[in-house]
Amino acid sequence: MAEQLEFRRYLVNVDSISTQQLSTDCLVIGAGVAGLRAAIEAAKTRNVIVICKRSLQDSNTWLAQGGIASVLDKTDSFEMHIADTLKTGCGLNDETVVELVVRQGPELIDQLLDWGTEFDMVDGRITTTLEAGHTHSRVAHAHGDETGRIVAEALIKTVRQIQNIKIVENFYVIDLLTNDRNECVGIIGHDGRAPQIIWAANTILATGGTGRLYRETTNPEVATADGIAMAYRAGVVLRDMEFIQFHPTTLYVAGASRALITETIRGEGALLVDSKGRRFMKDYHQAAELAPRDIVSRAILSQMLKTKSTHVYLDLRHFDKDHFARRFPLISELCTSFDIDISRDLIPVRPSAHYMIGGLKTDNDARTNIENLYACGEVASTGLHGANRLGSNSLLEGLVFGRTAGRFASKQIRTRTSHIRHPVIKYQIPHSGRTRLDAADVTNSLRALMWRNVGITRREQPLDEAQEIIRFWQRYVMDKIFASPAGWECQNMLTVCLLMAEAAQKRKESRGVHFRSDFPGTDDKNFKKHIEIMR
Ligand code: FUM
Repeated sequence: MAEQLEFRRYLVNVDSISTQQLSTDCLVIGAGVAGLRAAIEAAKTRNVIVICKRSLQDSNTWLAQGGIASVLDKTDSFEMHIADTLKTGCGLNDETVVELVVRQGPELIDQLLDWGTEFDMVDGRITTTLEAGHTHSRVAHAHGDETGRIVAEALIKTVRQIQNIKIVENFYVIDLLTNDRNECVGIIGHDGRAPQIIWAANTILATGGTGRLYRETTNPEVATADGIAMAYRAGVVLRDMEFIQFHPTTLYVAGASRALITETIRGEGALLVDSKGRRFMKDYHQAAELAPRDIVSRAILSQMLKTKSTHVYLDLRHFDKDHFARRFPLISELCTSFDIDISRDLIPVRPSAHYMIGGLKTDNDARTNIENLYACGEVASTGLHGANRLGSNSLLEGLVFGRTAGRFASKQIRTRTSHIRHPVIKYQIPHSGRTRLDAADVTNSLRALMWRNVGITRREQPLDEAQEIIRFWQRYVMDKIFASPAGWECQNMLTVCLLMAEAAQKRKESRGVHFRSDFPGTDDKNFKKHIEIMR
């Protein structure tokens, strides 16, 4: 039997006395929609530092094409948006959270308008589109398929104008620091030159998702699950780690990264055809191309198997090319860069890992179970999505819980760092003589393993095998002390992949985005509940 690895609270040695340090009232880790929105709110009364791993442009928010779902016209209603979210979530949504998120949508979108977001509008009103799972047209876009970038730019501009927010880019957070009462007191990280401690009265984690744990993903390079891993080490309760959403249509050109081709295109009439040119979605679901994402993803996989092909195609040949270029500038440019002429050529696509539904369990005030630690955005499990996320609900969730986290973090009694005596933290990792594995090679192999064994379709034996292989790699990677992000990322990925595989194995049923071919039915009697994990 494999020897048990000793649990490591921190990935690096910590000596708080001899490490460079600074302090702040409120520390926000991550600069997607949730982190930036949190910073704006907290800065109303507190000093804030926002740190991000690379630049402010490196986030899932920046890449989002689909828009923000919200009730924006009189023929729609909060009740209908709530009902669609609950139906998609397959029995695991927190109804209170769904209601509070949906009801805050219009106000938060108005704020984005005030901060300069150029939503697509006609006659002074935001235009909306219909997307899979929504019974009403309610998805707001900005510059067509550039919604994420346009929203992020407006938030970044706003943040930059606020004097008591300091932005630190290219700073890698290694671990959350906790004191002997297990309260969060800040972080230890690395600014590219040296380790640094940032003491914070309140810390807000908004580090995004886990897409990079898979070989095929729509996510940017930064999405390596660092936030979830460091929270796990600190003792945060995680929830729903088996629920990862795969997006059905990402560009498949061998050697190129998997760029998202927004679902809105199917909403506007794009068809899915297989390598023989046959439209196949009607064989799988009555809503055809507009069936829920998990169903479309599995249908594509099954059609790829049937036709022995590595991909299927999106057929847009009936679209008006000029209208397409105006409506979807990002995808139009992408196609052109690969010499795909949409009036003549089909676009090769296949599914990719897209969105982590699970994460740090939070309450309605965005609090985790660790004092002074909040979470918002994709890293959090708020209860909004249940077992499947309704498209375009996530930017909305980031806005709502970003604001909530910022508000509550700045309201706490212990909110000013000047009121706090910093603890002395010392942690020494014993030397390990074990052979060194190549972290880059492990990272690549891990992503391929997750794609094969913990992917769109799961089964007992491959899930077992995945855990065995991950544990083997852990023995040679987790005992090391790395000095740069590639090593820490590999350690974080191994930690979170194992938790995902374990949760996927525990859920012996199919529900929402989690599909077990050996348990294809939904088992309400045993599994209409969340799977929680804590170290
Ligand atoms: O297809 C899309 O544009 C994706 C939207 C989303 O993930 O919410």
